[in-house]
Amino acid sequence: MAIGSLSTTVLFLSTIFYMVLGDDAVGNSGQYPLVVSTWPFIEAVKAAWRAVDGGLSAVDAVVEGCSTCEELRCDGTVGPGGSPDENGETTIDAMVMNGVTMEVGAVAAMRYVKDGIRAARLVMQHTEHTLLVGEQASVFAISMGLPGPTNLSSSDSLEKWTKWKANHCQPNFRKNVVPVDSCGPYHPKGIMDVNEGECSKTNLMGVAEPRSSHIGPHNHDTISMAVIDKMGRVAVGASTNGATYKIPGRVGDGPIAGSSAYADSDVGACGATGDGDIMMRFLPCYQVVESMRLGVEPRIAAKDAISRIARKFPDFVGAVFAVNKSGVHAGACHGWTFQYSVRSPEMDDVEVFTVFP
Ligand SMILES: *[C@@H]1O[C@H](CO)[C@@H](O)[C@H](O)[C@H]1NC(C)=O
Ligand SMILES: *[C@@H]1O[C@H](CO)[C@@H](O)[C@H](O)[C@H]1NC(C)=O
Repeated sequence: MAIGSLSTTVLFLSTIFYMVLGDDAVGNSGQYPLVVSTWPFIEAVKAAWRAVDGGLSAVDAVVEGCSTCEELRCDGTVGPGGSPDENGETTIDAMVMNGVTMEVGAVAAMRYVKDGIRAARLVMQHTEHTLLVGEQASVFAISMGLPGPTNLSSSDSLEKWTKWKANHCQPNFRKNVVPVDSCGPYHPKGIMDVNEGECSKTNLMGVAEPRSSHIGPHNHDTISMAVIDKMGRVAVGASTNGATYKIPGRVGDGPIAGSSAYADSDVGACGATGDGDIMMRFLPCYQVVESMRLGVEPRIAAKDAISRIARKFPDFVGAVFAVNKSGVHAGACHGWTFQYSVRSPEMDDVEVFTVFP
């Protein structure tokens, strides 16, 4: 039987590749290398592609790709100069994950250092830790050779922040506080206020209030990238400067493995973007990869991860892409139209795929 003998041949060949390349590797089946990224971050995908096509590892290609977005300040929400917090400061969240070893390095709310993904790789490669935060992450990154301290504000971010202050600090991420419609300092809304009838029915019902006023394509973007290298090794990374007007100290899904991205070289990878405060409660990328491990196709795995969130938070805005070891990719989204970019050996250039909710 033709099909039978074909799969016998494939089995035979992959056994040879396995013997030659060892544990970590699968033979190059022709689908590799492969780069997938959230959004039409074309230059970032090109940079990762050049790196991985030139023989670099999946981890290093992810770092090249995400670094490019940090330098270009993709959409103003990656790298320095974007998303001012309530104090007008820009901070950086980033993560890199090696899907062969399951090592992760990440930095969160990192101040004064612009190279998020490189700092994340330093945490992964030169510490036993997974996640460093705040000013101490900056001290570590600088001590390990990254440039800094650097002013992460730009005239754009400061202008945005000044306008927001002038608009009585609206919109913001506070809830159940007083004052409601002006800048802080804020205090918890007390029992007295509830007795005065301000406690809304929706809160009593336990239904989440809409948050969509905060969220748009230029407010909550993350570059989340997956690379499969020529050896079949999978890595992912993410980098973002977070949510505009966030409360200082806020960390989103970006540096959380399983949330913004997840990789397992046995299965494939996932990347996510959107309302990180909500998405990080569901670890959507962990969900996607684990579904694919059980044999679910990427398209269904992506849809399932998104609909699990939508069931609890019907107003959330977000998206994931899924890619399996065969290079089959798909996206799913909720509340907005999503685009992701792909570069594979059979493409002449980066291709952008559009996914509708
Ligand atoms: C940081 O850069 C911004 C924009 O260029 C500038 O307005 C601000 O004064 C700088 N802050 C410091 C402390 O140098
Ligand atoms: C990847 O997904 C496609 C589409 O569902 C499937 O045909 C293929 O077997 C999957 N590959 C792996 C390695 O699971």
